[in-house]
Amino acid sequence: MPGAMSDPVDASRDVYRAPVGTRDVLPPESGRWVEIVAAFATRAARFGYGLVVTPAFEHLEVFQRVGETTDVVRKEMYEMLDRGGRRIALRPEGTAPVVRAYVQHRPTPPWKVWYVAPNFRYERPQRGRYRQHYQLGAEALGVDDPAVDVEIIELVHGYFRDLGLEQVTLLLNSMGDERSRPAYREALQAYFRPFAADLGADFAQRVEENPMRILDSKRDDWQEVVERAPQMYDYLTDESREHFEQVERGLDALGIRYEIAPRLVRGFDYYTRTAFEFVSDALDAAQNAIGGGGRYDRLAEEMGGPPTPGIGFGIGIERMLIACDAEGAVPARAARVDAFVVDAVGGLEAAVLVAELREAGLASDRAFGGRSVKAQWKLADRSGARFGVMLAPRELARGHVAVKDLVTGEQVEVERDRVPAWLLTRVGEERR
Ligand code: HAM
Repeated sequence: MPGAMSDPVDASRDVYRAPVGTRDVLPPESGRWVEIVAAFATRAARFGYGLVVTPAFEHLEVFQRVGETTDVVRKEMYEMLDRGGRRIALRPEGTAPVVRAYVQHRPTPPWKVWYVAPNFRYERPQRGRYRQHYQLGAEALGVDDPAVDVEIIELVHGYFRDLGLEQVTLLLNSMGDERSRPAYREALQAYFRPFAADLGADFAQRVEENPMRILDSKRDDWQEVVERAPQMYDYLTDESREHFEQVERGLDALGIRYEIAPRLVRGFDYYTRTAFEFVSDALDAAQNAIGGGGRYDRLAEEMGGPPTPGIGFGIGIERMLIACDAEGAVPARAARVDAFVVDAVGGLEAAVLVAELREAGLASDRAFGGRSVKAQWKLADRSGARFGVMLAPRELARGHVAVKDLVTGEQVEVERDRVPAWLLTRVGEERR
């Protein structure tokens, strides 16, 4: 297709495989997704955040607002012309669309929302880094009280704790505001310039265009220089410093531990003041951030809205699950049904019984396609069902069915009409 993205290293790809850098999530692994998204939705609701759903693509300009000099905008965006000639891009991150929605709909602040959505970045795929990744995130717009920064961090912190993730460190920094940034930028440029000749064209370009983009680079050959760079903290205005200290005091009061990370700058230009990242000590350093976020007090205004401060975060689901694997948290569990109905009578009896069980709230299944009774019992075993319920002609004629405990092998006869109630009691006792 003319104008379509081509990937030279991928020319002989098998087209009936998921594209490079994307993954299918199948059961039982997908069961973990259900669990973590449900846990997040519950926690977000408890904090007063409502779900927001925005399109997977936006006008290109929306995403250009995250920073013209960032890797995401410059090198990684999936942008295209649609058939109507509009310049659109697939969502590379979740904050810009939420702020765009805020500016468009003008909800009454504070506006507190959460989301779960795929993001698209044309990156070099590796473990923990994909071309499509999912984020769980939240944004709070309309308040610049440091207490909201604390609330946002508390939302993530407790979420990881609830999932059983323990080897997670919270890194905290202030990116300053529009008044402290110019002086810091100049200090960085003055410090970096003498190294530009040795460290390559990319380095030299970043020094002039956006020296903060050097601080968040993972390039090994730049690290020595980066480590001795001037620190933002020394350039903060009194106001930004006071904000930062109030965030620290708020976190202290809630017993949330953090490390000050003076060189944490995050990858987007919209950040102001509070910036944070949760890193998993169980992951490789290059992909150890399982979540991150910060303030973006100018973004709504840059999109033509009223001046509206904001703060939020995004958690990478795939990366978080790699951290869970490393720590043995949120194990994948095969879905099990409560009852598997084995049909030895034919007709519609089995269908009616399964429907009754399901309506009663019992996970139930059966075989299709007129399988032999032996084959049906095999399927019942393989399904991991707790009970097998057998419809057989002789028992049914007396108004009974045979219920087999598939763990102990014990078998009892139960009145046909009492089967849902009987199973509910047994399953309920075990769940308790
Ligand atoms: P981000 O740091 O670019 O921030 O992404 C958030 C998280 O998404 C990362 O910490 C990481 O876990 C995951 N992630 C990012 N890129 C990839 C990738 N290529 N493959 C797998 N996982 C990835 C944002 O996107 C901001 N919108 C966060 C935010 C919300 N700031 C304020 N509000």
